[in-house]
Amino acid sequence: MFSKFNTGQKLLVLVLILSFIAFLTHTDHFMASLEELETSPECQCVSKRTGKSHNFCYPQPRNPGWYGKKFNCSFLETLEDLNLLDDPSNAITLQEAISNKDSLVFVSATSEDHFGISMRSYQAVRKYYPNHKYVLFGLNISEESIGKLPKSDLNFEFREFDASLYPEYVTNFKRYHFKGLVMAEAMRDYPVLWWIDAHMEMIKPNMIENLFEEISDNRMSKRYSELISYDQSVLNILLLNDFLDYQKYYMKKLDPSFSRMH
Ligand SMILES: *[C@@H]1O[C@H](CO)[C@@H](O)[C@H](O)[C@H]1NC(C)=O
Ligand SMILES: *[C@@H]1O[C@H](CO)[C@@H](O)[C@H](O)[C@H]1NC(C)=O
Repeated sequence: MFSKFNTGQKLLVLVLILSFIAFLTHTDHFMASLEELETSPECQCVSKRTGKSHNFCYPQPRNPGWYGKKFNCSFLETLEDLNLLDDPSNAITLQEAISNKDSLVFVSATSEDHFGISMRSYQAVRKYYPNHKYVLFGLNISEESIGKLPKSDLNFEFREFDASLYPEYVTNFKRYHFKGLVMAEAMRDYPVLWWIDAHMEMIKPNMIENLFEEISDNRMSKRYSELISYDQSVLNILLLNDFLDYQKYYMKKLDPSFSRMH
């Protein structure tokens, strides 16, 4: 199945997978099983910085012995810069993550053509969570739009996404290569993230409270992932590993709390 993907899509999938791995805080079980699945010597890439060898073929957990075509080793440095190889130094436990709802950070990104809708998405979050940190990544947005950002909101932070750090195709924002990369950059600084697509509008209160309560009551076991989705954006991960066990990542009850703006 991997040969149908172009290099850009493979990088995105790799970044999503590695983001996912980095996001896990009870990594031991999952990592151990990935290591067991580790593939062949041709799959290795050696870090110039650490001399360590890393597996660059994706192993299919449901089909041991099956693995994807090797990713280009030139991506290794990028992954190191994103703190996605080995254990992330800022990893916290799930228990720690849900013990303080104020530490959750909202993260989104917008290109120029989504700017208006992105500001509506931000304002919807602010209706319910006026003080949580909100980081918006700009995908080459204009000076005029930058001028309209909510500067008086001290918990709002704008970051220009620097696509020049990545392969050129990342600048084609309509292909969404930026998404996993933006999440990875945000995750380097903040361990507990709520990613919100620019066109999603929060329409109900107590989202964080409900999510944390659900995790605490029902999702503390290793049967569940610490990456939780409430829409189809988790599909890449599901298709790769766990289609039969989608509840591991998917929390349907969050879905009605958002509406899609057009
Ligand atoms: C890997 O990436 C480098 C740098 O972009 C490129 O020169 C090289 O041809 C690529 N190798 C393969 C096997 O695609
Ligand atoms: C950024 O936007 C400007 C103005 O629309 C455009 O000319 C330029 O090509 C864009 N750059 C990238 C990297 O997309």
